[in-house]
Amino acid sequence: MPVETETEAAPVWIFAYGSLIWRPGFDYAERVRAEIVGFRRGFCMTSIHYRGTPEAPGLVLALDADPAGRCSGVAYRLAPDGAGAGLAYVRGRELVSRAYDEARLPLRLEDGREVEGYVYVVNRDHAQYRGGLTPEEQAEVIARAVGPMGTNAEYLASTVASLAGLGLEDPELVALAAMVRARRGEP
Ligand code: SIN
Repeated sequence: MPVETETEAAPVWIFAYGSLIWRPGFDYAERVRAEIVGFRRGFCMTSIHYRGTPEAPGLVLALDADPAGRCSGVAYRLAPDGAGAGLAYVRGRELVSRAYDEARLPLRLEDGREVEGYVYVVNRDHAQYRGGLTPEEQAEVIARAVGPMGTNAEYLASTVASLAGLGLEDPELVALAAMVRARRGEP
């Protein structure tokens, strides 16, 4: 009779492409640059809880489906004994208004590994979806908006800085940050 061997629980990976890069808020065992294919990063979601209010919404980054798209960021592997708590924290933060859908999608890690990770992608049917804004329209909103977590401009600047620190500069975000600084009269 074959002896059943105990299988290890699958590792929990979370893909970060915006604020989770610079403020994960959970403990992790490993952090590695990673890429997701079939999505692009953009300010395509209004923020009413963090970087804006229902009366004056800001904009936050989300992944939007695009067959030709790809997005670089960071993959976190949670420690097995903290995976449940870590995932619960991220769900509480990212699914606050269900404007993101949680998906489990393939990630390419920079060292060549391919893993499946939890990814938060925009729900295009949600009232907070704002795809198709021009960079100028985005800059107008981001330059002014503020919410309980701080200014929308800080959110963008922190994302630009963290991506640059990782060697993953996003030219569209860099250009947008310059437009926002100009509107705010900042150098
Ligand atoms: C988020 O986690 O989606 C936003 C957090 C922040 O605005 O700092």
